[in-house]
Amino acid sequence: MAEDLFSIQERIQALREELHAHNDRYYRLNAPIISDREFDLLLKELEQLELQYPQFADPNSPTQRVGGSVAKNFDTVPHVFPMFSLSNTYSEEELEAWEERLRKQMDEPVSYLCELKYDGAAVNLLYEKGVLVRATTRGDGQQGDVITENIRTIRSLPLVLRGDGWPDRFEMRGEVIMYRDGFEQLNKDRIEAGYEPFANPRNSAAGTLKLQDSAMVAQRPLDCFMYGMVGDDVPFDSAFDAMEAARSWGFQFPPYETVAHSLSKVFQFLQKWDRDRHSLNFEIDGAVIKVNELAAQKRLGFTAKSPRWAMAYKFKAEEAFTRLKEVVYQVGRTGAVTPVAVLDPVLISGTTVQRASLHNADQIERLHLHLGDRVSVEKGGEIIPKITGVDVTQRSPDASPIQFPTECPECHSPLHRMEGEAQHYCINSMACPPQIKGKIAHFASRKAMDIEGLGQETIDLLFEAGLVRNLTDIYELKKEELMQLDRWADRSAQNLLDGIQGSKQQPFERVLYALGIRYVGETVAKRLARGYPSIHSLRSATLENLIELDDIGERIAQSVVAFFKQPDQLHQILELEKFGLKMESVAQESLQNGPLSGLTFVVSGVFQEYSRDGIKKAVEEAGGRVVGSISGSVNYLLAGDKMGPAKRVKAEKLGIQIVDESQFISMLGK
Ligand code: IVH
Repeated sequence: MAEDLFSIQERIQALREELHAHNDRYYRLNAPIISDREFDLLLKELEQLELQYPQFADPNSPTQRVGGSVAKNFDTVPHVFPMFSLSNTYSEEELEAWEERLRKQMDEPVSYLCELKYDGAAVNLLYEKGVLVRATTRGDGQQGDVITENIRTIRSLPLVLRGDGWPDRFEMRGEVIMYRDGFEQLNKDRIEAGYEPFANPRNSAAGTLKLQDSAMVAQRPLDCFMYGMVGDDVPFDSAFDAMEAARSWGFQFPPYETVAHSLSKVFQFLQKWDRDRHSLNFEIDGAVIKVNELAAQKRLGFTAKSPRWAMAYKFKAEEAFTRLKEVVYQVGRTGAVTPVAVLDPVLISGTTVQRASLHNADQIERLHLHLGDRVSVEKGGEIIPKITGVDVTQRSPDASPIQFPTECPECHSPLHRMEGEAQHYCINSMACPPQIKGKIAHFASRKAMDIEGLGQETIDLLFEAGLVRNLTDIYELKKEELMQLDRWADRSAQNLLDGIQGSKQQPFERVLYALGIRYVGETVAKRLARGYPSIHSLRSATLENLIELDDIGERIAQSVVAFFKQPDQLHQILELEKFGLKMESVAQESLQNGPLSGLTFVVSGVFQEYSRDGIKKAVEEAGGRVVGSISGSVNYLLAGDKMGPAKRVKAEKLGIQIVDESQFISMLGK
């Protein structure tokens, strides 16, 4: 038996090492040597073994990359070594003055390590004996928040170091960034789900690191670029050598970095990247110039705030002046009205800018905008240019101020602004043309009902022809009608009808997402469909019921309840049901007869046989429901190891039965 266990442990270890190496080849070196499928098979085998033999669990196993554990709030801990900031400059002259100061303190000339200044969120990674033990945010420089679970999901980061020669205990410093293309996609998805888009990749990266659910972090396009190694005994002569070694241990030390032996070479680096920075798939806001020799760094030391051996050179945000021609108002599918500035075309960082977002009414108010104003436009970190200021000296005395409309520019219904929200909304959701068209486009989109052939252009066409005015109209389209449209023939009409027919097979969670309920994106729809496997049970859920579901907050719950209160929406749902759309999960029937059907659980602590998510799924697959907090409507507290005492006390007080994992397993068997 002991022998067996030993060989199992060896197999687990071998699988982990192999998977770590493949991950590294795939995510960092971009040179995989096995197929995704082969990789998945190895991963599955490891997952299976870890499930069977929990005694060999390891938080740094490649299986932990997908995230999963939900850690409410973050602990704050002091950094082993404080995290300094950098002195900034925008001018080459100041760099010359800096070099002058260095010269006075040093006997020998130094070289400079030139790096890019990544615009993201700083992280501090503590490694002990070659294993990642803790990751923290920068915080105030002295102490930061522990975000280890979230950081583990970044696949290009080594959880276990490769090679050799690392200090026993040291910290790696780096910047977590979000790639531009991934950021744009993320924002598209957010807008589609009715959320405010992130302002820029930096905010988005920083916000993602503070998400409570690491499984969500795992889905975001983050990466981490390293720029420093700190420890009591860093065994290298230069910063560059240290980073090269870090690269050999599995870290990403970006390839743009170079060592310059004179300030004029440093200036060449700065000029190149000021010019070429837009070609990168991530954002930088400057460069960092460091004295390369570690002995020299040590001699120079630190001021109270920053090292004397480094300087950040910031690129100027590209800005231009132009004239505000007018402000137009766009109405999205949720009815949100966004003001957009229309500008005289102007060239900024290589692209012609003619429009800039004004976000909301407050922004217009803040800038005191008038028609014809000379405005400064900036294309900084943001993808969409923004207006940063107004040259009031150039304003003609009779210029009229921009006033936010009181009615919808498209359908002339009055606009509403809910308390605490920045956005104005047109509430005529069932009849306002851009809202209808937007809703149909969302309904038909790939992640929703995935109706092939029903793209924006076709929707415009069908809408103009009066053939679709709401979602149910889609299912009433007839071939003869379609063939009368300009340039439509038998085949194109049939293709669209086939696509529509096919969409009736989409599962309930997709239908729920497709309905376009505000704040109900793909993930939330899945969550709701698990908790309430039919539209009718969801419809009768109260605000309190919904909030009890894990991961469903008040804002989402309110939106869902408000949605089902609208008679038009209810009518539409019933009609769609008649056309055969799936309004309940397929497993619904078995759920009703499941061993836990009708029972509500709170899950807490750590389990042997199941992961936390796994045990919740087991409850739901047996017909039960999982809620986040203990209340009178809960039947069982499913208690694992390390459960907080507060939950137990509360459960005992309310007379709620507490079951452990093995009791739970026997409940499933019944
Ligand atoms: S070195 C002791 N190098 O800039 C010096 N920082 O303003 C530590 N940053 O908080 C910083 N890229 O988050 C360094 N190549 C780079 C960097 C970099 C981005 C960020 C870092 C730091 C901030 C300092």
